[in-house]
Amino acid sequence: MAKISLTVDGAQVTDDVEPRMLLVQYLRETLGKTGTVIGCDTSNCGACTVLFDGVSVKSCNVLAVQAEGHEVTTIEGLASNGELHPVQQAFHDCHALQCGFCTPGMIMRSVDLLNENPHPTEEEIRNGLEGNLCRCTGYHNIVKAVQQAAGAPATTGGAS
Ligand code: FES
Ligand code: FES
Repeated sequence: MAKISLTVDGAQVTDDVEPRMLLVQYLRETLGKTGTVIGCDTSNCGACTVLFDGVSVKSCNVLAVQAEGHEVTTIEGLASNGELHPVQQAFHDCHALQCGFCTPGMIMRSVDLLNENPHPTEEEIRNGLEGNLCRCTGYHNIVKAVQQAAGAPATTGGAS
């Protein structure tokens, strides 16, 4: 076992973990943060996306021991003082989900995308989200939500 100390959603945590444990397993199974979900376990779908020192990563592609000394933010740490994060609010307003399975990862990736580029074009949003898969919405409303969160009028007109 290896001892790790890190910050998760603003709280300092210390645990003994197996060296092979994935960060997503640690978040879900040890910390109970089941808002971060596992869609594929093979770094394809993006459902497990979290912020790692402010940058989006697929947490099924990171070992828990690699998070030693770092800061991880999950979907459960995004709201503050009872207020949804603007990206969360935009996903709600734009009906950017159906089953919701992809939503935590989509939102965390979108937060990072907007940090990198606060005023992305529709194409930049679609490219930025290419590592996150949604089986329900066809992406149309997801793109609209990111545009709303960026403070831009929704321009997307296609159905996919
Ligand atoms: Fe991590 Fe799919 S569960 S990318
Ligand atoms: Fe169901 Fe995206 S809303 S997978």
